[in-house]
Amino acid sequence: MKPKFYVTTPIYYVNGAPHIGHAYTSIAADVLARWKRLDGFDVFFLTGTDEHGQKVEKAAAAAGLDPRGFADRVAADFRDMADKMGLSHDDFIRTTETRHTATCQELWRRIADNGHIYLGHYEGFYAVRDEAFYDESELTTKPDGTRIAPSGAPVEWVREPSYFFDLSKWQDKLLRFYEENPDFIAPNSRRNEVMSFVRGGLNDLSISRTTFNWGIPVPDAPGHVMYVWLDALTNYLTATGWPDESAERWGFWPADVHLIGKDIIRFHAVYWPAFLMAAGLAPPKRVSSNGWWTVEGEKMSKSLGNVIEPRNLVATYGLDQVRYFFMREKPFGADGSMSHASLVTRINVELANDLGNLAQRSLSLIARNCEGRLPARGEATAEDTALLDAANALPGLVRDKMDRQVFHEALEDVWKVIRAANGYIDRQAPWALKKTDPARMAVVLRVLVDAMRPVAVVLQPFMPRSMANMLDQLGVPVEARDIASLAAPLADGTALPPPSGVFPRHVEEAA
Ligand code: MSP
Repeated sequence: MKPKFYVTTPIYYVNGAPHIGHAYTSIAADVLARWKRLDGFDVFFLTGTDEHGQKVEKAAAAAGLDPRGFADRVAADFRDMADKMGLSHDDFIRTTETRHTATCQELWRRIADNGHIYLGHYEGFYAVRDEAFYDESELTTKPDGTRIAPSGAPVEWVREPSYFFDLSKWQDKLLRFYEENPDFIAPNSRRNEVMSFVRGGLNDLSISRTTFNWGIPVPDAPGHVMYVWLDALTNYLTATGWPDESAERWGFWPADVHLIGKDIIRFHAVYWPAFLMAAGLAPPKRVSSNGWWTVEGEKMSKSLGNVIEPRNLVATYGLDQVRYFFMREKPFGADGSMSHASLVTRINVELANDLGNLAQRSLSLIARNCEGRLPARGEATAEDTALLDAANALPGLVRDKMDRQVFHEALEDVWKVIRAANGYIDRQAPWALKKTDPARMAVVLRVLVDAMRPVAVVLQPFMPRSMANMLDQLGVPVEARDIASLAAPLADGTALPPPSGVFPRHVEEAA
């Protein structure tokens, strides 16, 4: 039986249109899901939408719609975004689905039955934009007197009856859990941040609201709806079929990795494991958080008018190009800037020149000089062996980087081989060997195909369409494109299709 792997994206608030921040985490999760499938895992990849709470209720009111109708519309837009980004998700969850209500209510009951929920009164600050409670000590005051959360969101004073989760009792258990699971939070800077937050002491958490009703009803407590973050986090459990522990997907729990943005780490790395442990369930294995994108060095915001629509980006530069840029341009955990100039450079230098030309040069020589058939392997020189060894080491190197979500390093490993192959072709000059030593020319071209094959195989998760095209041109059978199949050599004499460019250059449109 294949080992299981469960990866998730955050579920996105349906208060507005998707932007590149959403597309980014989703693409990273897709790259990981595709990689794991390629590497022999049985993968469950989940994405979806977060539809309850005041933030969505307010956005619906502003649009003049009832929350359900509004959520239906925006959720459809997120589904379309997922398709346009080439996501290979196995499920798309909406928190307004009945399966989700059932799971949330059962989780609540288990936590309550275990004695971790009590009824009280909440009085304090709340930021609707973050759907988060804040302590007075965390706030700053603007000259006009408005109080601001660390995220920049305005807060309001809330006073209402509320159920509480006894989070204050979980400090030691959480700290022990982080110690025993050093890989639980990535990157390490976030782990330190979370640990010092927990060491500072935890307040009990308000987990129900009574001043509005766009949420999941608390069982046996008329007037209370669940705090939207308890509802939202539970999506990861709902999709496994829980509480039906005979459901096939329940076998995927605990999740292997939740990919999230750095702003929502506290919910995932503090509240979520505490809720699960309180219900007697295993916490996820890892929470890996990404940094934020700015645009041309500026924070993206509606007021600046610089919010980038991911589908427009794809229409301008191409899907695989955008996926590559996202994964290559900055470390996953770090912040980074997206700019037109850096996109064009990556596309034209790394994709079109380095990789595209390598394939084009090698394959057109085979088309012209080897009757379009894959030449047989020959006696290897030291240079041949060095290139082939470097190419064959890629799966191991990439596997290690993927498991740590250092996607940019995985791509750097691949590009080292691509650059080495370009150096090799220049030095070997097979176009000259054609006259002086045609047998050696054939061997050199075969070495190039054998080196490009693992390159294209491991790049499939990043750029599925372009690499399918490249593997077609390399004569790699469709059913032999996974990591395990790299062990068997390609058949000598395989007829290769006429070569055609894999990556067009990005040409500026005339103004
Ligand atoms: N609904 C919650 C998540 C619940 S998960 C159980 C939420 N939704 S969100 O739509 O506001 O944000 C989703 C993700 O987008 C967050 O992880 C956030 O970090 C990310 N981003 C929002 N703006 C971003 C950038 N400018 N750059 C990168 N990611 C950013 O939070």
